[in-house]
Amino acid sequence: MVARPRTGDREKGNTVTTTDEVVRIDAGGWGLTWVADGDGVLRQVGLGTDGHRAELAFAAQWYPTAYPTWGGGDPYRPAALRVTHADGTLTTRLLLDSVERTAEADGEHVRVILRDDDVDLSVEIHSRTHPESTVLEQWVEIVHHEDGPVRLHDYHSIAPFLMVPEAAEVHQFVGGGWADEWRWTTCDLPPGTTDLASYGGLQPHLQMAPCLLVSPTGRTTETEGDVIGLSIAWGGNTHFGLDVRPRAEPDSPRELRLRAGANPAGAEYVLDPGARFTTPTVAWTWSSGGRGEVTTAMHRWTRARVLRDPDRMRPLVVNNWEATFFDFDERRIVDLIGRAADLGADLFLLDDGWFGTTRPRDDDTTSLGDWDPDPAKLPGGLGPLADAAAERDVRFGIWVEPEMVNPISDLHARHPEWVLRDRRQPRLHRHQLALDPLLPEVRAFVVEVVDRTLGAHPRISYVKWDANRPITDPGSRALAPDRQANVWVDHALATWQVMAEVARRHPEVELMLCASGGGRTDHGTLRYFHEVWTSDNTDPVTRVRMHWAFGHFFPAAVMAAHVTRWGDRPLAFACAVALSGRFGFDLDLAALTDDEAATCRRAVQVARRTQDLVQQGDLVRLVSPVEGADRSRAAWAHTAVDGRRAVLFAFQVEEPTGAGPNLRLEGLDPGSDYRVTAVDLASPDAPTTTRHTGAALGGAGLPWPLDQACTARLFEIEVL
Ligand code: GLA
Repeated sequence: MVARPRTGDREKGNTVTTTDEVVRIDAGGWGLTWVADGDGVLRQVGLGTDGHRAELAFAAQWYPTAYPTWGGGDPYRPAALRVTHADGTLTTRLLLDSVERTAEADGEHVRVILRDDDVDLSVEIHSRTHPESTVLEQWVEIVHHEDGPVRLHDYHSIAPFLMVPEAAEVHQFVGGGWADEWRWTTCDLPPGTTDLASYGGLQPHLQMAPCLLVSPTGRTTETEGDVIGLSIAWGGNTHFGLDVRPRAEPDSPRELRLRAGANPAGAEYVLDPGARFTTPTVAWTWSSGGRGEVTTAMHRWTRARVLRDPDRMRPLVVNNWEATFFDFDERRIVDLIGRAADLGADLFLLDDGWFGTTRPRDDDTTSLGDWDPDPAKLPGGLGPLADAAAERDVRFGIWVEPEMVNPISDLHARHPEWVLRDRRQPRLHRHQLALDPLLPEVRAFVVEVVDRTLGAHPRISYVKWDANRPITDPGSRALAPDRQANVWVDHALATWQVMAEVARRHPEVELMLCASGGGRTDHGTLRYFHEVWTSDNTDPVTRVRMHWAFGHFFPAAVMAAHVTRWGDRPLAFACAVALSGRFGFDLDLAALTDDEAATCRRAVQVARRTQDLVQQGDLVRLVSPVEGADRSRAAWAHTAVDGRRAVLFAFQVEEPTGAGPNLRLEGLDPGSDYRVTAVDLASPDAPTTTRHTGAALGGAGLPWPLDQACTARLFEIEVL
């Protein structure tokens, strides 16, 4: 195909603007080709491993539109963009205007500008490549100069088109809500439109992680098959729309239009002339070598473009929440700090219940908003606790939930008008209401809560930022009556503004992102944080499966995992599972038996030897607990980038069904000898050590070591 001569080329700095009608996006091993047809409509000519090299096989007009709009050439399917224009016009027809390409240090930014052929509205499709990881970031920006505001009903960030066989499938993560995050579900793609959506605005990912794996050519494994991994980097409601249409011809593959972005349900956005609407970024990658490659891509990109301080080792945390809940005083916390120090923790995290001056926060019914220490529990404030931690060389962290207020609080008495609501009395959820971050005074208050807490005690170097209710009664005083539905998008953006400011003011403070557990687990919000409280469900049996799913998109450094009593499992098993994430404890250390204390001490020793691999190594999944006939066990490894060390985790989650598979760890140096130390945290005996070549570990492998439910073995592997 011959491109039109570049008559309109302009160069400014490292940005080149062209009027080419061929747009190739090379994401590093896969990509896209878009071509404008004779009318100027942008068509998707290629997508996939050779997608950026695609050539036209027939006239461009027969290819699917690259970004379908309502009332365009495809009236049978939901559109990516649906707008009611200022004069009431319901249709949008976009034609290619120009393309801007800007070289960046670690990729390229391509801006494809489309304009409506009749009204003054333009849509920019942005693509940022990151060839080192092969993750492509895409989003859309909408601007118009119509005679009045327009209404955006649907505004997806991407809408690729694929031909898929009946065997195509997806892995999605819709769960039951609180304590049921990252539930792995495999589904095929039935004809019709399937919506995978989250709601609730404030902690949407409790119901569904904003991530999806698509196997467009059929079943895949860790190392085989085509897999598309997608992550919607959005702190609000998200949506994947899978629109599948069979074709009349026998044995023909089906058509799949995949839309991803913010969930527009109930969130139609009123956009004023001259204002710019930016959709969330969708980060996606295409591997032809199975799911393992998707994970490697997502982890590399997360570390390079998302995560704060990716090379900083995360601390070993002791949290008091499950040990004390609201029932503590200075003496009890100082005692726990001492025990945390004895155990070898890096950081003590004081959870909910430390504040409330007029009313003590003895349960969750009062005092959110009154961020001064409770004088009854902590007569000396936080100072003596921070001091006690410093004396024992343990860092001190604190829990806050700064976006929330209990109606029974001084803050609510002073500012009842700060609450997010419509005309009705808002419903309570966990006895609390959400503050409205669209109000500048609320944004200032939230930033100030963190400032004040940290400023008064410079030794506080870690914050757990929680948010324990959804939005039930959407509405904002900051918005005019005709644009109340803007609140869903604007709430997410205003919250990011506040989080960005906190991160800017406290660059050294580590931030944990929590929302009733993993209610805010997305690559957008993570930009301001160091880690995520994966789930309040810390039952190690459930956690093995959560870690498995979570690890497909986020590195283990992000995945906080604490040893607790949930599920009443053997402590050695709970420790082993937590060691596969950012390790910590949330246990009453004063109530441990001698045997349990010894198990915890052994786990800390293992953490010291292995957390660098877990947090910064490459994840290799070996045995799945969520697929296949035998889901009773799981295994995965974290290997050093240079292949000289690894830690391999094996979990017998439930009673074994049949013989376990050998554990084959590829990626080590085949010619080197490795020492393999098998650690059983339940046993006080010294671990056993064997010697294997890298070739043997990747070939025959290690025999499956476990035969009882809720047992674990760790293999520390090191080149000799
Ligand atoms: C949420 C969090 C918990 C804990 C409590 C405190 O549920 O997920 O870890 O911090 O709040 O109220």
